[in-house]
Amino acid sequence: MTNSYLEVAVEAAREAGSILLAELDRPAKISYKGEVDLVTQADQRSEQAIVSRLRTHFPKHAIVAEEGGGQETESRFRWFVDPLDGTTNFAHGYPCFAVSIGLEEAGELLVGVVYQPVSQELFTAVKGEGAYLNQKPIRVSEIDRLATSLLATGFPSAKRSRSPNIHYYWDFTLRSHGVRRDGSAALDLAAVACGRFEGFWEFGLHPWDTAAGALLVREAGGVVTTLSGQPYRPGDRDTLASNGRVHEEMRQVAADIAERTAEPQRAL
Ligand code: IPD
Ligand code: CA
Ligand code: CA
Repeated sequence: MTNSYLEVAVEAAREAGSILLAELDRPAKISYKGEVDLVTQADQRSEQAIVSRLRTHFPKHAIVAEEGGGQETESRFRWFVDPLDGTTNFAHGYPCFAVSIGLEEAGELLVGVVYQPVSQELFTAVKGEGAYLNQKPIRVSEIDRLATSLLATGFPSAKRSRSPNIHYYWDFTLRSHGVRRDGSAALDLAAVACGRFEGFWEFGLHPWDTAAGALLVREAGGVVTTLSGQPYRPGDRDTLASNGRVHEEMRQVAADIAERTAEPQRAL
């Protein structure tokens, strides 16, 4: 059965990806959910396609979709849908965005799909069965020191002035090969899973941003916790993902920054 969940999620992600590519060629119709929190017609069309496919195949499952098109049910199965992760990039024509679809069963991540339609990279994972990029197995990297790591982070589009992340960005930049900020948390997590980045952290992500990516990282041999080191569950307000080898070092650095800046880690 799990394979049919994966199959449907992959079909939905590919269909949504085609919609995003078609929308990319048109002038963006942007509206605002917050000061710099954008939503485009592409987010909405992509979400409609994914939700309608999930509903057709699994009418009893709960669906949590970023733009509000999901459905709440009593089911032990819950889909998390980000129809366009990287909306700001998309709206500016910067080709770094993805579709992210994750499935949880009774609170445990079961299936994750992240699809980047421009590069046609399809990341998939099923609990206990490993992680794949275009059907080839992927693993996290073997680098074991922060000093030689490449990291990624992101900044929230809501309540930006209250985010403590600039302190973390500065500090981790000085302690590593660098910190990328590419505007799609789902792709950042997928990049940790396939060994491009050693670690990733962010504050204030939502379950639709992380559900699929967190499973990808774990199934590729990595670790995902909160910044204080508790096992991460979609919905937790801060996220630390790594290849496992640099995890404790990153967690310790984060604890030091939190103490030094005297800002609570869950500031959002
Ligand atoms: C955003 C992206 C970005 C992250 C933001 C998210 P959206 O998602 O994942 O990388 O830094 O926190 O909100 O709004 O483009 O779906
Ligand atoms: Ca997102
Ligand atoms: Ca989104």
